[in-house]
Amino acid sequence: MNELQTQIRALAQQKHAIIMAHYYCRPEVQEVADFIGDSLALAQQAQKTDADIIVMCGVHFMAETAAILCPNKKVLIPDPTAGCSLADSCQASDLAAWKAQHPGYKVISYVNTSAAVKALSDIVVTSSNALRVVNSFDSNEHLLFNPDCHLGAYINAKTCRQMELWNGGCHVHSRFSEASVIALKQAHPQAPVLAHPECPQSILDHSDIIGSTQALLNYVREHAEIKEFIIATEPGVIFKMQQAQPSAAFYPVAGEGVGDCNTCEYMRQNTLQKLYSCLANETNIVQVDPLLAQQALQPIQRMLSIS
Ligand code: 13P
Ligand code: SF4
Repeated sequence: MNELQTQIRALAQQKHAIIMAHYYCRPEVQEVADFIGDSLALAQQAQKTDADIIVMCGVHFMAETAAILCPNKKVLIPDPTAGCSLADSCQASDLAAWKAQHPGYKVISYVNTSAAVKALSDIVVTSSNALRVVNSFDSNEHLLFNPDCHLGAYINAKTCRQMELWNGGCHVHSRFSEASVIALKQAHPQAPVLAHPECPQSILDHSDIIGSTQALLNYVREHAEIKEFIIATEPGVIFKMQQAQPSAAFYPVAGEGVGDCNTCEYMRQNTLQKLYSCLANETNIVQVDPLLAQQALQPIQRMLSIS
């Protein structure tokens, strides 16, 4: 650990704080975290921690979800401007209008949404539990799914449902380059392609394993005999994959366009310096209006109860 990391750990101990980080965070941030997880695991851990302060190294909706689940704790985020293009792709007013056009439909919202969108939803899902949650609805129930059209299409195909899909998406997963996957497969024919279901069908068509960030990491952990992997999700997760299999090679799929960028700039806004300063000064507190929090809590708890 470097000096700043040591200071962060000392502060966390002194303040009885838990540092949580999503797998897409920078390696040096993951190194100081008490808990690293995907969206579902972060919510579950927030619900059960006895820490006084939660520092959420992730994006805003993750800290907001923790604040909704833990109204009596202080939830901090290193950079409050760390947003999410997917969450931004469906505003509460959009969802309200969509619901009005579909009376009688149940609303399923991905966790990558604002508290206001969750408050208008019947249930929340993450990529880890989406299939299970959707299967918990009666097969003749009419369903609206928002905001990720790719995850929604994947679930429709898997469950033989015809949920109506909002046309939203994550700019990172939507821009993975099909040409890059094809080239990596040609160069490494033994390597399975591991993809997140936020990727479009053009990427999933080339994939061997499709799953949440945690599921992809588990696959690497459970397959010590495989020594090469092609990764079609945010490459921050490769840090943990490499720890799980130090001698394996991981080939991240490139993004399409300028610089072939394939990283989430919002996740990368979590730097050690910002983490230190928000914890030292207890700034960037994430608060949710109590009434909104109460309304958003129910669909989140419904999800957690079947996860
Ligand atoms: P999971 O953490 O559920 O795999 O989702 C990925 C993601 O979009 C995080 O922003
Ligand atoms: Fe949002 Fe995509 Fe970044 Fe995840 S990777 S936080 S879905 S913009």
